[in-house]
Amino acid sequence: MFPFQLLNIFFVASKVRKEDSKYDLSHYKRGDLLEVPRTLFTHFGIYLGDNRVAHLIPDILPVISKNKSAIAKMVTNNRLILGVIAKVASVRVDSLEDFAYGSEILVNHMDKVCSQPPMDGDEVARRAEKLLGSITYSLLWYNCEHYVMYCRYGMTISYQTYQFCTAVRKIVCSRMSAYFTALCGVGAMLYLGSVTPLTTLPTLLIPFTIWMAS
Ligand SMILES: *[C@@H]1O[C@H](CO)[C@@H](O)[C@H](O)[C@H]1NC(C)=O
Repeated sequence: MFPFQLLNIFFVASKVRKEDSKYDLSHYKRGDLLEVPRTLFTHFGIYLGDNRVAHLIPDILPVISKNKSAIAKMVTNNRLILGVIAKVASVRVDSLEDFAYGSEILVNHMDKVCSQPPMDGDEVARRAEKLLGSITYSLLWYNCEHYVMYCRYGMTISYQTYQFCTAVRKIVCSRMSAYFTALCGVGAMLYLGSVTPLTTLPTLLIPFTIWMAS
C-alpha cells in the first residue's frame, strides 16, 4: 500500500498543469473545504479567500533550509518525496492553480458525508491559518485530510485512513484464512510424515505490524 500512496503523491506533483486553466474565484468562499480527486487518494485544502488555499503537503525544505523565499515556491517532486520519506510536511498557502494542478475542484463535498455540521467559514479559515508551518507527517496517522477535518469540523479523523485500515484488515483477514488453510495443509503433511517450517507466519506478520504502527 505504501508504494501506491507514494506513487499518488508523485502524481500530485508531476501532473502537467494546464497553463490556461483558470478557476473562477466567485465559486469559492472563505472556509470552504476543497477536494482535488486523484487516482487513488484525494488531496484536501481550506480556501482562505483571495485565491489562497491552505493545505498540508509533504515537504523536506523547511527542515533543511531557512530560506523563506525558497520555501514559499511551489513544492517540487524531490521536496515532496523526501518529505514523505522523512515524514515531514508543512501546512502552506498556495494559489488555487498550484493547489489543484488543473484538476477539477470539489467544494464542501465532505459536508454530506460527515456526521458533524461544519463550523462557521471564518472560524474554519482561522483554524487553518493558525496551523501554518511545518509539522511531522505520517501518511497513515496525520495527513492532509486530518488537517482539513480538524479545521472544518473540529475533529481529526480521516475517512481515507479509515478506508485504508478497513482494506488492510480485509487483507489480513484473507491472509489469516490463507494461513489457516496452509496450517491445515501443514497438519496434514505432518500427519502424513513430512516436515514444513512454520516460521513463515511470524516472519511475514511481524514486519507488517511494525510498519502499520509507525
Ligand atoms: C533564497 O532562495 C532564493 C530563491 O530560490 C534565492 O534566489 C536566494 O539567493 C536564496 N537566498 C539565500 C540567502 O540563500
